[in-house]
Amino acid sequence: MKKLLKNCNFNGSPLNLLINNEYIESTGSILFPADSEYDLKGKIVLPGMIDLHTHIRDLGQSYKEDWTTASKAALSGGVTTVFDMPNTVPPTDTLEHLEMKRQVAVKSSVNYGIYAGATPHNLADLRLILEEGRIAGIKIFMAASSSNEVISDEHYLKKIFQLAKEFDKPVLTHCELHSCIESREKQFTAPSYNSVKFHSIIRDRKCAYKAVKLALKIAAEVGNSLMVLHVSTREEMELIREYKQHGDFPLYCEVTPHHLFLDEEVLETAGNFGKVNPPLRSREDADALFGAVIDGVVDTIGSDHAPHGLKEKQLEYRKAPSGFPGLETSLPLLINRHLTNNDISIERIIELTSRTPSIIMRTQKRGELKPGYFADITVIDPEAQWSVVSENFNTKAKYSPYEGMSLRGKVIMTMVNGEEKHPQGQEVMYD
Ligand code: DOR
Ligand code: ZN
Repeated sequence: MKKLLKNCNFNGSPLNLLINNEYIESTGSILFPADSEYDLKGKIVLPGMIDLHTHIRDLGQSYKEDWTTASKAALSGGVTTVFDMPNTVPPTDTLEHLEMKRQVAVKSSVNYGIYAGATPHNLADLRLILEEGRIAGIKIFMAASSSNEVISDEHYLKKIFQLAKEFDKPVLTHCELHSCIESREKQFTAPSYNSVKFHSIIRDRKCAYKAVKLALKIAAEVGNSLMVLHVSTREEMELIREYKQHGDFPLYCEVTPHHLFLDEEVLETAGNFGKVNPPLRSREDADALFGAVIDGVVDTIGSDHAPHGLKEKQLEYRKAPSGFPGLETSLPLLINRHLTNNDISIERIIELTSRTPSIIMRTQKRGELKPGYFADITVIDPEAQWSVVSENFNTKAKYSPYEGMSLRGKVIMTMVNGEEKHPQGQEVMYD
């Protein structure tokens, strides 16, 4: 079955795309003959977003989210591939648990990659997982956050980095230093601090900085590929910038849309719906991160889709879990910024959300609109305007710190492996 997507606006130029089953067969100005045609009338076409940072849950936490609802959310947000974090129940820390995850992930209507999780006692299991050869990378939490095991011992961290290097896989770090946060928490136990407005003070920016410093030091010693996730402060970003200039190991960093487009002010209205780790920081931090997105220090934007139950999020600050859904808002927030301020180009958005994620993870034939690549395609109507109403989300997590925000540009079609109506996701393959 051949499909023609004609009159696409790709990076400002007109383009026709011929799709043959799962793959893009040809691109160009020719009206290629096909069995069916979609006239996109100048709508913006992008490679589908490859979101390297999602928490899909399922299994023991399917009340928070499962692969069916998460992948529906992905489709509506223009995301065609998700990479799933290991802090699930059970965690992705053994081959057996990895297999359990694969069995539920077949429900996904978008493509997926799976990370293994490091725990203080699973080095041997990690080796078996790496030998099997079908995971994206190893995730390390350097602080407690949500159903995760913490590793902060330098000697042990180094062993994990060495193992990842042996198998040429990236290490992905959640950089907040556990001991630092624990000691801060002890200083803020008074009832008056039981409010999300102190979240960024308790989970202090210094704790994040120290963890980034440690991760960079170890990666520099071992020489392996490191991806620092959800950088939230200006000084972490500056440190990463320096290492990128002088270090000689593959170093990548991610920023989330919420650390770019929100700041701690939103907590006044969003309350615990805006509780997230690392916390929302100041407007100055958000602006510094946006600067790094534009000048190229930031490699990827990941949603950190972290769904929780509404009732859980409505608990008092200390008991409410951290995280909120992001799959349905991430690409739209970037497109909105492009259409509204014109200070980020579509080309740069493509780089951050599909091309570079694919390069970092070495996924086969994804992340570009080129012949021979999978037809993972997102279409945006730049004229459409909509408001974030979390009640209408496809995720099970029906709350959002973006509630009521008006956005320009709407995802009107998401094609996965050449299929638009009822796509079936595949586990991605790696080069
Ligand atoms: O806010 C967060 N939520 N940060 C994390 O690191 C984990 C995530 C989750 O899984 O809920
Ligand atoms: Zn996360």
